[in-house]
Amino acid sequence: MRITEEKMDRSLLYQVCPYNPPSWIAANIPSSAIPLHYVTLGRFPTPIAKFALPLLETELGGGTSLWDNNNIYIKRDDLSSSDLSGNKVRKLEFLLPEALLNGHDSVITIGGIQSNHARATAIASRQLGLEPHLILRGRQNPEDILPDGNLLLDRLVDSHIHTVTPATYATIGSASLTSQLKTQLEMEGKKPYIIPVGGSNPLGSFGYMEMINELNQQAVALHSNGRLRTPYFDHIVFACGSGGTASGIVIATKLSGCKSKIHAVGVCDSPEYFYNHIEQNIKDLNISNMGDVREFCSIYNGQNLGYARASDDEIEYLIKVSSTTGIILDPIYSGKALYFFVKNVLKTINTTEESVVFIHTGGGYANFANEYSEKINNELKNNFKIKKLIVHNNK
Ligand SMILES: Cc1ncc(COP(=O)(O)O)c(C=O)c1O
Repeated sequence: MRITEEKMDRSLLYQVCPYNPPSWIAANIPSSAIPLHYVTLGRFPTPIAKFALPLLETELGGGTSLWDNNNIYIKRDDLSSSDLSGNKVRKLEFLLPEALLNGHDSVITIGGIQSNHARATAIASRQLGLEPHLILRGRQNPEDILPDGNLLLDRLVDSHIHTVTPATYATIGSASLTSQLKTQLEMEGKKPYIIPVGGSNPLGSFGYMEMINELNQQAVALHSNGRLRTPYFDHIVFACGSGGTASGIVIATKLSGCKSKIHAVGVCDSPEYFYNHIEQNIKDLNISNMGDVREFCSIYNGQNLGYARASDDEIEYLIKVSSTTGIILDPIYSGKALYFFVKNVLKTINTTEESVVFIHTGGGYANFANEYSEKINNELKNNFKIKKLIVHNNK
């Protein structure tokens, strides 16, 4: 039967449902810290597939793809939903019930001008009948901002957009900026709910604990039909931006007892910042048996030119992946992370023996932002395959 009862239930959009955590969450996290509800926003489980990972020209003997004798997979969290696409929807499934059940009428969040998190939050808020307010960090004055990429979608769902300069963001900080906007909206009679940068707080981290639960089940299935050597992936790789995805993955990997090694590629801030963020989440959730996170989780500095700045090599690799596999990455997170991993870490893993799964966390709408589409088109200019069809009048 293709449509199970559970799938039917999930297809009735936007239901707030009671949350029944996996046993390893219930056994290791105090019940007071476990959410009681989630809201069905995404399409889960996301698919998992073998990944013909292209290698770099300069590394690993170059040019070819890893395929048949290698155990490299991709988990398509970019397919979590078309409009909410990416990793943020998993966090929003746990964050937004709080807004709904506590009578909030609006949502405030904060991020960069092309923030995927802000876009997903704005769209999900509208879907649930909440008014989205986004604080977006950008160098330009509001009247000079090109409303492209994620920002176009923010506008399509009629978000209220409040801009701040990078300097203001750095000096005032995201927590103070969101609470200042909250006060202003309250003075207008609204009841806003604040979601922090990236949705990355202990509550949001349950989204990625659930992803590990899903991934574990997929690994067990692949193992039982002889495709995976172990009932878990030896290596889990993903982009790290605010640390929430990493927190959920780290906590769930340990608590669920799977033996995966985690590779989080930071696209901003320092690895130390992210270790501290994860450790703080563990503390806030009162988890006592995590051990030393650094023993099974490596966090790398994969910023290269800096946050949201794509190098020519990264763009070239992003194009190589899309043109050889049909999988679209993004220049700020998934593309940057995979490029860093292939360049610096892959050679340390024997992929004919050990399995690797890359979590594609989405971000594709940024490709449509002028800043990046210009770079991509420029890189593609020597591969221009648009020409007039030769037409014969012989019908
Ligand atoms: C597409 C994409 N991938 C990865 C990340 C990183 O996730 P996190 O913020 O949870 O570290 C983000 C957001 O920051 C993102 O938008």
